[in-house]
Amino acid sequence: MTYNRRKFLTFLGKAGIGAAVLPHAFLACNTATKNTKNNGTSAGGSFDFKGLEPSTDDELKLANGLRYRPIIKWNTPINDQDTFGYNNDFTCFLPLDSQNPKDGLLWVNHEYVNSLFVSGYDRHDKEQKRSIAQVDKEMYNVGGSIIRIQQNAAGHWNLVENDAFNRRITAKTPIEFNWDVPIKGAREAIGTLSNCSGGITPWNTFLSCEENYDNCFGETMYDQENVPSHMPSSYGWEQFYDYPPEHYGWVVEIEPLTGSAQKHVALGRFAHECCTLVSLKDKRVVAYSGDDKNDEHLYKFIASKPESLKEGTLYVASLEKGQWLALDWDKHPVLQQRFDNQTEVLIRAREAAKLLGATPLNRPEDIEIDPVTGAIFVSLTNNKKRGDYHGSILKIEEAGGRYDALRFTSSTYKAGGEETGFSCPDNLAFDQVGNLWMTSDMSGSAMNKPDNAYTNFKNNSLFVIPRYGDRAGEVIRVANAPSDAELTGPWFAPDGDTLFLSVQHPGEQTTDLTAPTSLWPFDNDGIPKSAVVAIQGPLLGYLRALPTKESNS
Ligand code: FEO
Ligand code: CA
Ligand code: CA
Repeated sequence: MTYNRRKFLTFLGKAGIGAAVLPHAFLACNTATKNTKNNGTSAGGSFDFKGLEPSTDDELKLANGLRYRPIIKWNTPINDQDTFGYNNDFTCFLPLDSQNPKDGLLWVNHEYVNSLFVSGYDRHDKEQKRSIAQVDKEMYNVGGSIIRIQQNAAGHWNLVENDAFNRRITAKTPIEFNWDVPIKGAREAIGTLSNCSGGITPWNTFLSCEENYDNCFGETMYDQENVPSHMPSSYGWEQFYDYPPEHYGWVVEIEPLTGSAQKHVALGRFAHECCTLVSLKDKRVVAYSGDDKNDEHLYKFIASKPESLKEGTLYVASLEKGQWLALDWDKHPVLQQRFDNQTEVLIRAREAAKLLGATPLNRPEDIEIDPVTGAIFVSLTNNKKRGDYHGSILKIEEAGGRYDALRFTSSTYKAGGEETGFSCPDNLAFDQVGNLWMTSDMSGSAMNKPDNAYTNFKNNSLFVIPRYGDRAGEVIRVANAPSDAELTGPWFAPDGDTLFLSVQHPGEQTTDLTAPTSLWPFDNDGIPKSAVVAIQGPLLGYLRALPTKESNS
């Protein structure tokens, strides 16, 4: 590949490298950090860098050289009206003032609810019916939060309570479609939901992705004759609110200072895990997004105008052909036979992708761009029906190193399994020098059961794959999640010395409120809670300062 490092100062991702969204002051700061002389003692104290063994303990366990403090947890008041939502996932930090990286806004996704804790509805009780009050509580607890956080003199990050920028966006918030024709008869949707991972734009707004939207208002299915029918949701919200499924499954953009939001139809509708943007020289963006379901696809949108997420073309990947296929109604008779127009192609992107021969993938989840080589890394979590229990990381290299190319090559960067020590990769984040951080997402129903494919991996974890030094390319476990939890939303602070991380769904397998399967974070009320934590410690600086010899990986 012919990417040069300088060029990468213009790309965007969730890595907190975020060079293009950070002012030069921060870039200088990052460079200084990288050059810090290091012998295991940088950034505050010595330690013995060892990976962790798998664990079944109900705690957030960190490797030597790391420590954590919670910033906020479920139900914490953020102002006089609002509380922090449930099951925090994607996080994204933006300083309010480019001269002060210690004060800014943190966006946090709230993916879904465990109704037993949130509304009291017990899904295991087949006699029980949800009430509208329960549904309203559930709808309030998904979406996202904007919270102002500040770092104090001791380096601790704290919520600024009642700050004017603190706000919630929920499944009740009206959100306009960024499109010229109505979607199912409406210019706006009510609410955002199933907000899993996300991204950031070059113009400093947050992107939040609606993933398993069919859980909430179901889905419209089409038979071979193209006759629609309603597939009911698992939550049954459509029994109380008659909102069309077509209003969900989009990428949502949120303006940090005002909270105003829009849904981007041009990026297609599917179970968007994430949305990772790259800015081209002429300020057009390319947006990568995966559809997290067995045998679904990898997409990219190439804008035709600067800074637009509306004008452009959506493509889907054929790995066999090494080609991006345009989901363009005008160009493909096979799409014209099935759909009335381009808007319908975008709403039913999954079907359109299959008609064009897109490659089925093993649950494409998070996507990040390597700050050193420019290659695109895609987590493929698993596909048990196809015998892939542990997943892998797919590497895509665009032809000529051009993100707007229509041809690419692909290869497996790392495969999960006992040999590499990880299973079910999900979120990815590169730090400033290109160490790759990765979280795992083994499902709660399969984890820590005797004699299955996941037994030896124990709790979900956070891993780092160092880029340089003696252990370059090795997958090293650096955090173990509490019982039933998953670690999500890794995002580096501008100086690289804090890793924001979500601890999602501790105690998810609980069936009896008096006997939760986790008590993390050990509040006195006996209820497990998702929380966002700040991870700090000398290991972060140590990894950034390893001798800069490229790994062979
Ligand atoms: Fe919400 Fe695909 O993880
Ligand atoms: Ca995820
Ligand atoms: Ca996942």
